[in-house]
Amino acid sequence: MALYDNHNRPLTYLRLSVTDRCNLRCFYCMPPEGLNWLPKSYLLTFEEIIRLVRLLASLGISKVRITGGEPFVRADLMKLLYRLSEIPGVNELHLTTNGVLTAPYVPELKKLGIASVNLSLDTLDAGRFKAIAHRDELKRVLNTLDSLLQHGIPVKINTVVMEGKNTEDIYPMAGLTRNYPVSVRFIEEMPFNGRGSHYAMLTWNYKKIREHLQAAWPDMKPLPTGPGATATVFEIPGHKGSVGIIAAFSRTFCGTCNRIRVTAQGMLKTCLYDNGVLSLRDLMRSGYSDEQLVSVLLSAFSQRPRNGFDAEANRNTAPVRESMAMIGG
Ligand code: GTP
Ligand code: 5AD
Ligand code: SF4
Repeated sequence: MALYDNHNRPLTYLRLSVTDRCNLRCFYCMPPEGLNWLPKSYLLTFEEIIRLVRLLASLGISKVRITGGEPFVRADLMKLLYRLSEIPGVNELHLTTNGVLTAPYVPELKKLGIASVNLSLDTLDAGRFKAIAHRDELKRVLNTLDSLLQHGIPVKINTVVMEGKNTEDIYPMAGLTRNYPVSVRFIEEMPFNGRGSHYAMLTWNYKKIREHLQAAWPDMKPLPTGPGATATVFEIPGHKGSVGIIAAFSRTFCGTCNRIRVTAQGMLKTCLYDNGVLSLRDLMRSGYSDEQLVSVLLSAFSQRPRNGFDAEANRNTAPVRESMAMIGG
């Protein structure tokens, strides 16, 4: 079955957050003291998650990405992943992780057929890692990268570009693609930092990042990308991997957006920039039948904002300030 929204965009991709908690404190995501973590009872249970994913898969969702917070902070994550991987219609199961706790699970991820792992990594320098993430964990993240590559799991590295924090890392991060078959994606910083502070003007937007990369590798060339891709991807001749740029704040890719989100507490978001359209958790806990859930889901999909700017303008609360860990990225 194919699922379309009101702008005729196919919906195929679910981003599902399994926890708001994290073992890092990346400053673009949350304050150093952390967040007011959700009580456990607020989180979707595994049973609720499985029920929702089954329903969404029956409607046409075929790609599921597990996010957090940090997914491996949720107890028994592997058990959930195994169950999700068996749901009919879920053809691709992906994971976005910070890599701190991930390495020991890599063989099992391979075994369950994980389609790819996106690793958040903003610098290769231990001092800057600690300054950005407020934890001294670079070594464990690099071990995870190593293990993923050794197991032949496709890897993308997510690097948020931050003025004054890691712009000197752009070249070394892109340089990883010379010898490793990874895609390193540079991301515009968004205001989802849990503080409500953000730059009126984004210094490092996708154009500036591209010019910066092109200055070092003038023969870098755009590569074709799949439908609904967030990244513009480039090959650098002679490199095993590729580099990409995600215009997450400039929102250049909304026209082909194929994704919906469910937060850790079961809030449906039909755009990253909206403030939640439906508490699926509350509906399930109030006894909604599968048919009733499908009906409210389809109704929400037929009212999606055209793009992230419309979604932001329609918010009924204050401007974007929530932490990415609360949303799931
Ligand atoms: P692939 O499935 O590998 O293409 O990954 P992805 O880009 O969908 O997911 P990932 O979790 O790696 O996210 C990378 C960056 O893209 C993060 O900063 C996300 O917040 C951002 N991103 C993902 N989806 C959207 C979106 O719908 N809108 C915006 N503005 N940013 C997004
Ligand atoms: N701006 C851009 N990207 C962010 N991420 C987390 N917070 C932000 C932000 N404020 C990224 C992380 C992770 C992905 C899911 O979202 O780097 O890889
Ligand atoms: Fe944790 Fe990811 Fe937020 Fe960093 S960006 S604090 S790794 S949830």
